[in-house]
Amino acid sequence: MGTNIGLDRRTFLRGMQMVAVAGAAGAGMPVPVAATDDAGKYDFDTPYNRIGTDCVKWDQQIRLYGREHIAVGMGIADMDFRVAPAITEALAKRIQHQNWGYLDMPEAFPELIIDWNKRRYGIDIHRDRLLMSTGVHPSILSALRAFSPRGSKVLMMTPIYDGFYGDIAAAGCKPEESPLKLANGRYAMDFEELERHISGETKTLILCNPHNPTGNCWSAQDMTTLGEICTKRGVVLLVDEIHCDLVTNGNKYTPFSTLDNREIVRNSITFKSASKSFSLSAMKCGWMFSENPDYIAKILEFGHSQDFNTLGMVAAMAAYTRGEDWLRQVVSYLNDNHDYAASFIHANMPLVSYTKAQGTYLAWLDVTRVAEKIGAGKMAAQTGNGVTPEAMVSRFFIQNAGVQINAGSNYGRAGAGHMRMNLATSRQTLKLALTNMATALKST
Ligand SMILES: Cc1ncc(COP(=O)(O)O)c(C=O)c1O
Repeated sequence: MGTNIGLDRRTFLRGMQMVAVAGAAGAGMPVPVAATDDAGKYDFDTPYNRIGTDCVKWDQQIRLYGREHIAVGMGIADMDFRVAPAITEALAKRIQHQNWGYLDMPEAFPELIIDWNKRRYGIDIHRDRLLMSTGVHPSILSALRAFSPRGSKVLMMTPIYDGFYGDIAAAGCKPEESPLKLANGRYAMDFEELERHISGETKTLILCNPHNPTGNCWSAQDMTTLGEICTKRGVVLLVDEIHCDLVTNGNKYTPFSTLDNREIVRNSITFKSASKSFSLSAMKCGWMFSENPDYIAKILEFGHSQDFNTLGMVAAMAAYTRGEDWLRQVVSYLNDNHDYAASFIHANMPLVSYTKAQGTYLAWLDVTRVAEKIGAGKMAAQTGNGVTPEAMVSRFFIQNAGVQINAGSNYGRAGAGHMRMNLATSRQTLKLALTNMATALKST
């Protein structure tokens, strides 16, 4: 790693000493919560040290690549910030009671989910068509088991969130990739291409809205056309809206379940959680709903377990009851991080291009020219074993910039030439990562 990184890392570590490590707080010790200043603003600027808490974003990368190679982890999709204080307070209160036996879910929990979705997005969720789970993945897996027989195909518009491939494999099905159209840095649905990928073997389509990794917030028009095609061809729509609360300025999340065409809505199931919006991923709590009672009955018939996690439920309830102001502020901070990254890249990284995302805190970077410059294709071919050029670009940034970002090829064949960078961190950490990357590219 170059000297610039050593210097930057020292600055970074100095910044981290200023804050308490949440993992160090034991029973009976006061838990520092994210305070606001006099103007009611949360502090997202001070870096919050997560190292030593067994987190994937930092600790896993340090374990994989060594501390000397990881100045910043910017891969997996969670946030580096302290959660909303209401969440920490609710969790601290609950752990005072030292028994963790089976839970009889309070009715207030589904009521909060229903209210949040109605109040913010005009979604009508019927209580008897809302199923709980330990996250979006278990919910999607239950739906796949119900609607996609083993060996059948699950259609996805790619590049798309890599976790779906795992769900599809776990259900014994095959992924069918229909590439999105890319023009001037913006992705669009390609309906002709999509129709070509539908056959008698295609039973479900997974739609991601907002779309991970490209950040698209799909329009009502696009989703209606998509829904009509799927419904006509007997394909059930599994709509993952986990990123719904995270939208950048001037953009809008349109819930699939609010589309005017109710026939296509009845042919869909929506998957959600508070985990992306409030950074509660390890709390393992999610839900799904459908307007169609037959779909819910079928998912239950195929053995969906309505398990969930006590602390996950406590955290989600606190988030929905008293976390909205924190969410509003974090969404604005993330919007500014997108702007910061876009202008920094434009000014300092001529080999990379980035079109600001409409939603999510993920930046989908075009690194085609980086791959060419470092000879990533040739290196990948020499390495073999299915290693992709994007994995080589990932290695380049780890070794030369101390920054871990995800290879675009993880998101399907259409992810070639791209990398996914998570911007949900303090501006200082983002600046460090981008500066290191720019310096590494300049000296290549
Ligand atoms: C689109 C999408 N769906 C699902 C998940 C994971 O959901 P969960 O942790 O609730 O299983 C992620 C995590 O990054 C995601 O981006």
